[in-house]
Amino acid sequence: MFQKIRYQLLLSYLVVLASVLTVFAIAVRLVFTQSLSSEKREELAILAKSAAVSSEFNHGHLSVGNEFSTNRLTSRDEALQWFDIKQKMIAQQGEDFVTLPMAMDEPTQIQKGKETVLAITLPIIGSRDHRPIGYVRASESLESMEKTIEKLDWGLGSGILVALALSGMGGLWLTRQAMKPAEISFQQLKQFTADASHELRSPLTAIKSNAAVALKYSEGMRPSDKEKFQAIASAINQMTRLTEDLLLLAQTDQITNLKPAVVDLADVLNHLIVLYQHQATANQIQLSAQLANNLNVLGDAVQLNRVFANLIENALRYTPAKGKVEIQTYINHHQIGVSVKDTGIGIAPENLERVFDRFWQADQSRSHRVGGSGLGLAITQAIVQQHGGSITVTSELGKGSCFTVQLPNSAT
Ligand SMILES: Nc1ncnc2c1ncn2[C@@H]1O[C@H](COP(=O)(O)OP(=O)(O)OP(=O)(O)O)[C@@H](O)[C@H]1O
Ligand SMILES: [Mg+2]
Repeated sequence: MFQKIRYQLLLSYLVVLASVLTVFAIAVRLVFTQSLSSEKREELAILAKSAAVSSEFNHGHLSVGNEFSTNRLTSRDEALQWFDIKQKMIAQQGEDFVTLPMAMDEPTQIQKGKETVLAITLPIIGSRDHRPIGYVRASESLESMEKTIEKLDWGLGSGILVALALSGMGGLWLTRQAMKPAEISFQQLKQFTADASHELRSPLTAIKSNAAVALKYSEGMRPSDKEKFQAIASAINQMTRLTEDLLLLAQTDQITNLKPAVVDLADVLNHLIVLYQHQATANQIQLSAQLANNLNVLGDAVQLNRVFANLIENALRYTPAKGKVEIQTYINHHQIGVSVKDTGIGIAPENLERVFDRFWQADQSRSHRVGGSGLGLAITQAIVQQHGGSITVTSELGKGSCFTVQLPNSAT
């Protein structure tokens, strides 16, 4: 039980951490790409402006300032193109050429095949008449920027994974530490329940035997006193069963310590049918069974007997006269299933999950309870789970219920 809570806690912790780290990584990536891209745009705008300013056409011949050496441009994935006023290309430097409308003021991102290129085209203003005499276009491939962002993505992704792995290991240790006090108190509570139930056995036995002796020699007793003794004896029977149930529930962990043997569930069920047939007939309930052969499971015969006795007892208890209780079995390679189906009062859908809770009963008013303490199904589930199996229930109010126990087939 604690193992499951521990893993749930760890999982929630990791989900929260992963969400926080992802949001953080997205923010870092956004800020980084934005600043890198605006830096590139500024650089390109400056390059285009300075190329436009230092270019001049003299009688159709282009003269460019010395600072635009081909080497500098190509080494940085940049390119420059000069056009005359009729948009005819006059000269070029670098390799990344693009086609763009003339006279664009802002650097624009354009797709060139697989590559993304940033480009800007500015007019060249003549120094004499201050009118456009041509155009200069600057462009730059964003490949290196994309590679840098890709590296950042890898870095952030692997950073998140490493952080999650380390936090997972740390979280495992932390949840173990956090659950320790709860585990210890739970163990102490279990031990207390076990000790209390154990200690209650002797005084209960003493009261029971005294009541039995008193009833045995009740000839001289007033009838009202005899009734009181009978009430005491019946209450003691109920209390004895309750303390035994509590002791068993407190010790369910130790069931695994019992030596498991191969148990044929057909024997267990046949024995129980004989045992409960009389009660069924008395209550006008038809108790029948269809049992397969070789229902062999590995387990403790006494405990398994208890499982099916509880289910049959419930079916008979919660089924009115003229009803039916049917036991069916099935067998497959891995599982052996036993279902106890009745045509009784049924269970409301909202209560289906609660039937296995300790002390839970559909009729919450204790005065109306038909015997029982509400521990039967909790014990049944604990024993089935200790045997590596599961128990499920389907039911319809007013129509009946079906409890199905699945246990591992000992043949596999
Ligand atoms: N076959 C059934 N049909 C209808 N209701 C059922 C059936 N089996 C169980 N229940 C409901 O689930 C509750 C819990 O069952 P559980 O066997 O744990 O306790 P109980 O039968 O009341 O008492 P105990 O088994 O301890 O004598 C019952 O009180 C009843 O309301
Ligand atoms: Mg019961």
